[in-house]
Amino acid sequence: MTDTVSAAVYGFPPREVIETPRGAMQTAPTVPGAQPLEALTDASMDAFVVLAPAGAVERRYVLAQALRVLKPGGRLTVAAPKDRGGLRLKKELSGFGCKIGEDARRHHRICMTLRPETPAGLTEALAEGAPRRIDGEGLWTQPGVFSWDRLDTGTALLMQALPAFSGAGADLGCGIGVLAHQVLASPKVTNLALVDIDRRALDAARRNVDDARVSFSHADIRLGLPELSNLDFVVSNPPFHEGGGEDKALGQAFIRGAAALLKKGGVLWLVANRHLPYEAVLADHFARVRPVVDQEGFKVLEAVK
Ligand SMILES: C[S@@+](CC[C@H](N)C(=O)[O-])C[C@H]1O[C@@H](n2cnc3c(N)ncnc32)[C@H](O)[C@@H]1O
Repeated sequence: MTDTVSAAVYGFPPREVIETPRGAMQTAPTVPGAQPLEALTDASMDAFVVLAPAGAVERRYVLAQALRVLKPGGRLTVAAPKDRGGLRLKKELSGFGCKIGEDARRHHRICMTLRPETPAGLTEALAEGAPRRIDGEGLWTQPGVFSWDRLDTGTALLMQALPAFSGAGADLGCGIGVLAHQVLASPKVTNLALVDIDRRALDAARRNVDDARVSFSHADIRLGLPELSNLDFVVSNPPFHEGGGEDKALGQAFIRGAAALLKKGGVLWLVANRHLPYEAVLADHFARVRPVVDQEGFKVLEAVK
């Protein structure tokens, strides 16, 4: 094996913070087409570069996975913004029995280590971050996916407001499939496409939504969904965060994406934080927009194409 094929990367570490080996295999679940971390063989990699996620349980899981797949002596380089877990990296990696070299660049903390012969505590960290059921018997979920351990207020408001749909539709940014149950309760729904950029969420949705009318798509809505068209309805609780900051453009791209998938007269039902500026893009792409709910800081809107 050459150096390039035995290196992996998690996410997209900024080039000015840490260097990613050329040809490194992408493993982040939020990158469609990436190799799932869980599928990598133990002790198979020479180098692993991680842009660590902000959530503590998720981060420890990713670090434990990286140490699991590195060969003993393999090089682990981890970076995280200081205010999103970076200040905890050294302690967390030391807890796995690693000896750490530390650096700081561009508001990131960077830790370098060589995988010890026998890292400590991997089993526990892997178990803690693995897929599980909410309250032991509820929906499947995983630390790191959106609102992984509780029903989001916006989602709950949208669920209460949704009408009984008919025909073919999609849930854009479906998460673990919470809205799907509501939509599929209508026997007149013939097809429902569940789309999300997060493979972990889709894997959970596959377990949570067992219905022949459903299809699953691991895709970035910003890049278009050529397999879907002429839909009767779209439901969405669009994301508005990317890389730690608020990103209005992401929600606006979801609205444009929904419009592109709908037939004339098709409807979009969406929920958003009240302050998010979606009205202009809705007006540009839809014939009519109706505010349905304004409650607890959220708005539910119906838009007819
Ligand atoms: C606010 S959450 C809503 C999840 C679920 N529908 C719910 O209501 O609980 C938004 C979802 O959009 C997904 N997402 C973010 N960016 C995306 C993109 N570019 N393409 C597809 N899905 C995306 C996230 O992974 C997340 O699951």
